[in-house]
Amino acid sequence: MFSQRIEGLRPSPIRAILDVIDRPGMISFAGGLPATDTLPQLSGVVPASTLQYGPTEGEPELRAAVSRQLRGLGVDAPPDRVMILSGSQQGIDLAAKLFVDPGTPTAVEYPTYLAALQVFRFYGARFVDLADPDSARTALAYVVPTFANPTGACASDAERDRLAARCLRDGTVLFEDDPYRDLVYDTCDRTPIAARMGGSSWIYQGSFSKTFAPGLRLGFIAASDDLFDRLVMVKQATDLHTSRLSQHIVLDAVTDPGWGARLDRLADFYRSRRDVFDDALTRHFGDLATWETPRGGLFFWLHLTRNVDTRGLLDAAIERGVAFMPGEEFSPDRPSIGTMRLNFSHADTDQTDRGLGILADLLRS
Ligand SMILES: Cc1ncc(COP(=O)(O)O)c(C=O)c1O
Repeated sequence: MFSQRIEGLRPSPIRAILDVIDRPGMISFAGGLPATDTLPQLSGVVPASTLQYGPTEGEPELRAAVSRQLRGLGVDAPPDRVMILSGSQQGIDLAAKLFVDPGTPTAVEYPTYLAALQVFRFYGARFVDLADPDSARTALAYVVPTFANPTGACASDAERDRLAARCLRDGTVLFEDDPYRDLVYDTCDRTPIAARMGGSSWIYQGSFSKTFAPGLRLGFIAASDDLFDRLVMVKQATDLHTSRLSQHIVLDAVTDPGWGARLDRLADFYRSRRDVFDDALTRHFGDLATWETPRGGLFFWLHLTRNVDTRGLLDAAIERGVAFMPGEEFSPDRPSIGTMRLNFSHADTDQTDRGLGILADLLRS
């Protein structure tokens, strides 16, 4: 089940000791901890202990807050099986380290998140299309079922059930990546697939990048009992732990009584950006492309009516001051020709109108 590199992995004895040194009265000659008195005083901002080394799994209060949220979604994630990540991108790296050797069959959606492909490719994954019914049994199935990157698609309840059943039947580890679930503009099925994996192996991760601040680099991961400790060990060997300062800031935000209202306001804001974008697309791209209005997330996924490889348009678009992502890049092989990913969260109304006008002109010429 696991990659060869995991065979030699042992828990770090230093990390185990660091876990106990915060106990009252403990005298520590272990570890290389700076004297707490020497740490910078960010007066009134954070307690000095926040600037000391911390536990690999993350701050207990933040793990508990994430656990509450996940259990509310039906995911079997007690606090001791939640780990805070240095961005959810790190979760992809940890999972790939845990499972992927050169040549390991790894199932992904076609198209899928570009930077996940980059990580899996780095460890030598052999990609298999999740939609291919004849695909060989794979160790791992990586999916973004809710407001996917790049397509914005949201899997139905039936599709989620089917994938869970398939993973259970084939002994495939489900790896569900869910950074967009709170950016929801219209109702749709969003119950995690991980909530349907009773008794089998799964990894579920989320992020505070889209709902709070990407620069803090904060995400979280939860996993079934058979996987969690190994993920912790891999993180130990990767970065010891996630920034405690970032965790402190996010803990304050998510435990604030106004957090739910903040998510609602965010969804309202992006819903109106999505609608503005949809209208502008209809004006400029009505005869050039087809698309489905995304019910959440941050992207429109366009299928051009003509078979143009949009990678060839990028330089000219950038020269005219507009950037976009050619859709061809998002599949590990056999690029989906004639597709574009357009983000609608960043540009304002005027920029959206001008940018789409320029792109449409380019395509016409
Ligand atoms: C599907 C998906 N997973 C993971 C990430 C990484 O997010 P983070 O900022 O939490 O590392 C992204 C970022 O865009 C994403 O789209």
